[in-house]
Amino acid sequence: MSIAENANCFFHSRRDTVPCFRAGFHFMNAPELEFTEETPFQVMKRTWQPVALSRDISIGGLASYRLFDVELIIARFATGWLAAEDACPHKGARLSRGSLHDGVLQCPYHGWQFDAEGGCTNIPSLLYPPCDKLKLSHLRNYPVQERYGMVWVQMESDPSVKLPEVPEFEDPAWTFLPGPPTLFRAGFRREIENYLDMTHFAFAHATTLGKAASPLIPEMRITVLDDGFQMDAPFPALATPHEQPGKLQSAHLRRQRCHLPNFTTIRQTFADGDERVLVHIPSPNTRTECTCFWALAVSPGFDGPPTQAQMEFAVKVLDEDRVMCENQVPAEIPLNPSRGGWGVLVTPGDTLANTFQKCFRRYLHEELADGAVARTI
Ligand code: FES
Ligand SMILES: [Fe+2]
Repeated sequence: MSIAENANCFFHSRRDTVPCFRAGFHFMNAPELEFTEETPFQVMKRTWQPVALSRDISIGGLASYRLFDVELIIARFATGWLAAEDACPHKGARLSRGSLHDGVLQCPYHGWQFDAEGGCTNIPSLLYPPCDKLKLSHLRNYPVQERYGMVWVQMESDPSVKLPEVPEFEDPAWTFLPGPPTLFRAGFRREIENYLDMTHFAFAHATTLGKAASPLIPEMRITVLDDGFQMDAPFPALATPHEQPGKLQSAHLRRQRCHLPNFTTIRQTFADGDERVLVHIPSPNTRTECTCFWALAVSPGFDGPPTQAQMEFAVKVLDEDRVMCENQVPAEIPLNPSRGGWGVLVTPGDTLANTFQKCFRRYLHEELADGAVARTI
């Protein structure tokens, strides 16, 4: 169902009606809940969020990461990953400053030891550590998995919540490459809005993408789906009178697919059939900081710049986006449009970002309506 077909109901929705994602896009009569700026983190703790690249932590390696304002230790045992609160149960020392040898994670302060499941196995100051003390000292650990070259953590266990499927990222015939995670001193919704925005290329990317970009965007089709939305548009060639467009600047079809809450892919299909898929996941550190995990994949025999050159170019483009996001006020987009606003919006330029804001509110509503989260609010 396209937005154009539903302009009356979607963009002018009444306060007392919300669409239901789980059952498809339709309206149900229910009062819309009031959200606070804490609501997104409370809801999103059930989702999987990236916290590290697998390649950045070798066996025996430790790292720290702040997710939803909680400091985590990420430890790579020979048998797998451990993600836990980065505070020793004894005196709160950061375990990520400790060591991991022979399957034993050791706190740097008094040497308490932990296994790959977070169980406390030894208290060196006691000859015979009592079982109850060991039991009390279990780390507060979280479900963790490795996929798409990244380590993912779910801070509130919910087996029904899965990662979005992107088969191309795991197809050995494709070339898949994660980029360097990039800290944005801006809220995660600022980053998502930036990734969905197509009218900033000529300005924010004047020295990279935007040499020949027009701020006028092509006609796009937005479709609301069970778990998010997608946008399809023909993307014009970025050509100048003096320069023929390269492969990546040539005309192509563009599909932007947002899997709520914060997993968005861009698929480019070129005239010769080659394809490129990029993903951005701004993993929330605090309400006003996120780390953008991202990757790109190109189809077999991609006739264009080598993947490494594409990656270097994408790093420059992302940095230009980072500067824009870090210089917006406020640092995060207000959740409630009536309290501070989403800005002066224009169509079609802001339609996609506006779709995200509206869908994200509806996602929160759906999750809150589900008893598991409602109890914690
Ligand atoms: S604080 Fe970790 S062993 Fe004492
Ligand atoms: Fe950009």
